[in-house]
Amino acid sequence: MIKIAPSLLSADFVRLEEEINKIQNAGADILHLDIMDGHFVPNLTFGLPIIKQIKDIAQIPVDVHLMVNNPDVYLETLGKWDIDYVSFHQEAETHIHRQLKVLQKYGVKAGIALNPATPVETIFPVIADLDFILIMSVNPGFGGQSFIPLVYEKIEKLRKLANQENPDLEIEVDGGVNNINAPKLISSGVDILVAGSFIFGSDNYKKQIQNLRNK
Ligand code: DX5
Ligand code: ZN
Repeated sequence: MIKIAPSLLSADFVRLEEEINKIQNAGADILHLDIMDGHFVPNLTFGLPIIKQIKDIAQIPVDVHLMVNNPDVYLETLGKWDIDYVSFHQEAETHIHRQLKVLQKYGVKAGIALNPATPVETIFPVIADLDFILIMSVNPGFGGQSFIPLVYEKIEKLRKLANQENPDLEIEVDGGVNNINAPKLISSGVDILVAGSFIFGSDNYKKQIQNLRNK
């Protein structure tokens, strides 16, 4: 069953609690939080205090996508707060295996995110240690960008290897996801679809979530 993870980046931040309640009632499976530091990506969002406040009111799992340099400094804290999913970028961390273990020590589902230009083969050596992988289908930093189709092939390769080495691995795709590309993403082997502007840009969140599920 495909999971839909709305990205709060495109929500109305002045009315964040209302938006979270609305998106949960609309059938979202996971809340996707985009953390940007102005260095790894050319944009800033929010940090630990707001993540904590969101986690405290969330009724569905929370997924923290760290688009930051030195993600290691946040991992223990996110673990102590029982965040459900945390991913950091392969391009931003030298000691990937070590940091996955920090998250898993707290029972967090640990993931690696890959930019569009990073070959998927780069994480093959640690595939058995991952709970999920986040394949970026735009260059990270902003909502509302166009989907880059080269990710289909990456997802297919990854699913094939995961079937042998780590059948429980969840594949998440993030960036430019909409009702046009969702069916092919699902058939390529994606488990979690992140969508920001496609959902929050509409006045009917429930309908957009159902459109992504292809129902
Ligand atoms: C981009 C973020 C995404 C973004 C997706 O850097 O990681 O999660 O919010 O937004 P859309 O779906 O509008 O591309
Ligand atoms: Zn994201």
